[in-house]
Amino acid sequence: MKIDILTLFPEMFAPLHQSITGRAERAGIVEIRAEDIRKYTKDRHFKCDDVPYGGGAGMVMTPQPIVDAVRALDPNGKARRIYMSPRGRVFTGKVASELAREDNILILCGHYEGVDQRALDICGFEELSIGDYVLTGGELAAMVVTDALLRFVDGVLSDGSADEESFSDGLLEYPQYTRPAVFEGLAVPEVLLSGHHENIAKWRKLQAEKITAERRPDLLK
Ligand code: ADE
Repeated sequence: MKIDILTLFPEMFAPLHQSITGRAERAGIVEIRAEDIRKYTKDRHFKCDDVPYGGGAGMVMTPQPIVDAVRALDPNGKARRIYMSPRGRVFTGKVASELAREDNILILCGHYEGVDQRALDICGFEELSIGDYVLTGGELAAMVVTDALLRFVDGVLSDGSADEESFSDGLLEYPQYTRPAVFEGLAVPEVLLSGHHENIAKWRKLQAEKITAERRPDLLK
């Protein structure tokens, strides 16, 4: 899988080259490239933004460098083109698993007051939001989407861990325990030490249902 990220701040993406996503890159499962939009501007002062037509606060990203960058990175229009924006469709685990099936993803990060609408229309971007709040730019949102979708790509996680946790079955995750069996007087629930797989599965399901009912009753509807 190839993920191209168009941004004015490519250095912000260093964290994706660490930990599990970094390991997936080194294993050749995914190629993540953060491309500087500024490289594509034809403005002689390297400007990529300007004041909004109609007035108002802030600056708007100009269409030319974005459209040229998209055409350079995805000349045949093969990539799923996503623009990170608080007005987009809300990103969920279901969307992440759907995106994990793509071979090519191109993510555009906005900054300032947004992007000239013509760049979005010409390139056919779909808009994706990571939640009902406004970030200073799309970079963190692009990292959230990249990290969450890579967990569903074969070989990125150890087998099964993506489908046994919060949300995969519509429930929040059951509590986990590891050694020692007693810590500061608190013992691990007896059933987990029993080796009885059926009882352990039953206990975990019950705990998941209880936690979901308490914290996120909306998920049970
Ligand atoms: N850019 C700014 N805020 C955002 C959000 N909530 N989701 C996606 N992109 C954004």
